Amino acid sequence: LLLYIPKSERAVPAFLGLNFLGNQSAHTDPAIRMCGAWISGKPEAGIVDHKATEASRGAEASRWQIDEVVGRGDAGATMCCGDIDPDFDDGFQNGAHPLFYCEGQTKPEPDEWGTIAAWAWGLSRALDYLETDKSIDAKRVAVVGHSRLGKTALWAAATDPRFAIAISNNSGCGGAALSKRIFGETVGMINEHFPHWFCGNFHKYSGHEDQLPADQHELIALIAPRPVYVASASEDKHADPHGEFLSARAADPAYRLFGLAGVGTDDMPPIDHPIGDAIRYHIRTGKHDITAYDWQQYLDFADRYLRKKSDWT
Ligand code: GCU
Repeated sequence: LLLYIPKSERAVPAFLGLNFLGNQSAHTDPAIRMCGAWISGKPEAGIVDHKATEASRGAEASRWQIDEVVGRGDAGATMCCGDIDPDFDDGFQNGAHPLFYCEGQTKPEPDEWGTIAAWAWGLSRALDYLETDKSIDAKRVAVVGHSRLGKTALWAAATDPRFAIAISNNSGCGGAALSKRIFGETVGMINEHFPHWFCGNFHKYSGHEDQLPADQHELIALIAPRPVYVASASEDKHADPHGEFLSARAADPAYRLFGLAGVGTDDMPPIDHPIGDAIRYHIRTGKHDITAYDWQQYLDFADRYLRKKSDWT
């Protein structure tokens, strides 16, 4: 776990999220130790044979904005998803899953966890550590993630109420986007390309979205009353921006039960105009990515909700 902490007399809030390419990709700092386990990445990003090389140092710095985060007085914490469970379908042999098999069990049961849930479990273990670190205010930790790791951030927040807020950036299918719209990446596509991400039972809904007993707005609702930020990108049709917006909006009633306002409107906002309250949403100009613009919004959101947490708990 890589941890940057601002100098402060008091314990500070933190952003915690998984990274794709190893901790050394989050900043150019030469002191960051290379990530050890299996990494999913290309030689252009400095990853050779699933191992990090020097060329990967700082390769994803724009996705972490560590200097901005620390400059605002928050800590930044990240670890590599491949250190928890390598991102490929190996029948769940080489990650966290085997640690929990019952006697004779060789893979998860159809209703047991896949890789995304294992990553979320890893985030909870990172939070266990943050709880022991006196410089961190562990009651004010935002869990953040981009794309498959945005799906993971939502699941982590839904399953671990210690996370104070959740930030899902371009999380798409299996994240914030509604599955029943069947737009962009579908349940069938995600199960075919990434058969290890979700539980075995999810495969029953490939091509049968109408039979799903739940949809993704209910995942967001599970996080209530803790604030959630859902963000899309205008060119990221694969993640279905409109479906991400509708899902965030459809979680509003759960927040109203706690006297909190959510997205607050059925109309999708113009590009680069964040809206909403305890559920906040924006669609940013550009591609599938997490950028400085996105982080500006998340830092403002955290200023509002993490620092004034006593207002809503
Ligand atoms: C693929 C996948 C998405 C995922 C994305 C990512 O595009 O289809 O579901 O969000 O990878 O993690 O970058």
